[in-house]
Amino acid sequence: MGVYNLSFKIPLIKPYIDEEIISKVKEVLLSGYLTQGPVTKEFEKSISNYVGSKFGISFTSNTTGMETALRSFGIGKGDEVIVPGYTYPATASVVSIVGAEPVFVDVDINTANIDYSLIEESITDKTKAIIPVSLFGNALDYSKLNRIKKKYNLIIIEDSACSLGSSYEGIMTGNLADASIFSFHPRKFITTGEGGMLTTNNEDVALSTYSYKYFGLKTWLEDGDIKVSGNEFSNIGTNYKLTNLQASIGLVQMKHIGKLLEERRKLAKNYDNLLKDLKDVLILKTTPNSEHSYQSYGVVIQNRDKIINEMRNNGIEVQIGSIDLLRHKAFSNFKHVSNLENSKLLGQSCMVLPLYNGMTKEQQESVVNELRRVTKLYS
Ligand SMILES: Cc1ncc(COP(=O)(O)O)c(C=O)c1O
Repeated sequence: MGVYNLSFKIPLIKPYIDEEIISKVKEVLLSGYLTQGPVTKEFEKSISNYVGSKFGISFTSNTTGMETALRSFGIGKGDEVIVPGYTYPATASVVSIVGAEPVFVDVDINTANIDYSLIEESITDKTKAIIPVSLFGNALDYSKLNRIKKKYNLIIIEDSACSLGSSYEGIMTGNLADASIFSFHPRKFITTGEGGMLTTNNEDVALSTYSYKYFGLKTWLEDGDIKVSGNEFSNIGTNYKLTNLQASIGLVQMKHIGKLLEERRKLAKNYDNLLKDLKDVLILKTTPNSEHSYQSYGVVIQNRDKIINEMRNNGIEVQIGSIDLLRHKAFSNFKHVSNLENSKLLGQSCMVLPLYNGMTKEQQESVVNELRRVTKLYS
């Protein structure tokens, strides 16, 4: 997947890096404390305070965080976990990695998030959890999800890779599910290069995920804070720790999250207006009663691949949206009850437009003018 690419006149994304970030990274470098440490802890606190959750536990990525979350709920062999058919592969891969079986449910064509009305028919005695995805920063409808959760006693682990800053009915993403996992890959506007953060209000999950990512060291709570033993191992664990060095980037970016989000929402609104008269371009809809964080601005368009090629050749880095998993060899044998027509359609026709902090109105106009010209070529 493409990341900030200097060869494009208008790149898909641009990470927010200022002088303060550079000097913070330098400070950490000079301290010699390069592994997980106090800056990691500060970054964890900044995220958990922001979303309102009791705990924030950092990871090397969203993927390792999701895998650890599944393990902490005891999900494994013989269990089924419901995932959307249209998402990044990590959402389904982690289910398989822990030995459970992903069950695909189609997505809503308007929002690209899971189709809540199709979840129940996919639930069996083996179903333990749902991993819904707030795709592109579009928050999930928790009034619908929680109804299903209660009725079937399921765990909700949100793949919130894209949606730091979004909210549903005034509650921040990261404080709505049993556990939520953010990504800090550079496609996200708070980025540590690679990185992830699990947020939860569940003490057991917090302690066991912290232990698992830290070689299985013994963990306990003291005044609501996770403490870790230096030499006592109570579990089998691995090393998924986020370093001080990586955390220093995200920590400084978090000071600006309000401003960065506001700017992204303005840019998205401007795209909405500019795209109004392009009748061949459908804009993905925002979940009712929610605030979008616009990690990506997604549109649905025919002849997408030709359009992407043509626009990229002209210096504008558009890209496919997400992945129609069932049509890929790795996932083609996994279970699904409903047909996944919308996932297929989005897999063929969803595209994301350049969107980054610091993008100008003129750059947005260039993107839309080029899109207008190119769609005419292929209509
Ligand atoms: C929906 C979704 N889930 C998971 C991931 C994986 O995140 P990471 O690269 O932090 O492991 C991504 C990555 O972009 C994503 O978009």
